[in-house]
Amino acid sequence: MSTHSPWIEKIQSLPVLPQIAMRVTERMQSPTATLGEISDLIKSDVGLSAKVLRLANSSYYSIPGGVSDVSKALQYLGFTTIAQIVLTSSVFGSFKTQGIREFSLAPFWLHSFAVGQLAEMTARTLQMESPSDAFIGGLIHDVGKLILLEIAPEHLSRIVRLAREKKLSFLAAEKELGDSTHVELGLELARHWKLPPGIQNAIAHHHSVKNDRACTLIQWANLRVNFRNLGNSGNFDPTIEAAMNETQTRLGLSTGALEALEIHFQKEFEKAGAILSGH
Ligand SMILES: [Fe+2]
Ligand SMILES: [Fe+2]
Repeated sequence: MSTHSPWIEKIQSLPVLPQIAMRVTERMQSPTATLGEISDLIKSDVGLSAKVLRLANSSYYSIPGGVSDVSKALQYLGFTTIAQIVLTSSVFGSFKTQGIREFSLAPFWLHSFAVGQLAEMTARTLQMESPSDAFIGGLIHDVGKLILLEIAPEHLSRIVRLAREKKLSFLAAEKELGDSTHVELGLELARHWKLPPGIQNAIAHHHSVKNDRACTLIQWANLRVNFRNLGNSGNFDPTIEAAMNETQTRLGLSTGALEALEIHFQKEFEKAGAILSGH
């Protein structure tokens, strides 16, 4: 690992995760949190309030007459979805960069959100601890690619062109070109954001086998989302099915449980458009 990479140093100057994201998620994990308190926090942020209302008024909920008040909207959305909105908007809002020809942001966000949502739902199915950490881990597992977009866009273009040309995964192309990978950069950002060690671990090992269920979960969700072509984050390796199946076995997710999960996921994923719009 190139610890002296100037890119790693640049991460220190990137913005930290907005305080509101930390506050809201922290409060939502508390058994004493009330909807009124969460709604006050959300109302203090115009962008977040708009997103909450947009989702509550989307066809997904089809509330008769619609809602125009954040507190009312929250009653329909539920804590899990609120946490997803707050985190998605805070994480992606921290990056002001535009996409480039070889790397568009909309499919990247869709990929990231899908991995987060699938990881969280799978964590619930498998009764693992902290499903909300699984969402954050999944959401930001590839955040290192956004760092490359922000501080080294030409390098990012080269990676994607090489991956496309040789049908490689993004990571394999990065390794061929040398320098810090998105895994190393993402881990550094997670440290800079002072995220819990479990989430840092999940980022650090989302492409490597580690005897840790939370890491295997993110690895599996990433492979599954790539296999199903939900969004795009620069993977051009068409041979991921075997790795996906092997990871599923390691995770202890039966085919029957996966089938039930997929139906539920499909439905939940319909919210993605309303949550991601505006970025
Ligand atoms: Fe990755
Ligand atoms: Fe990914």
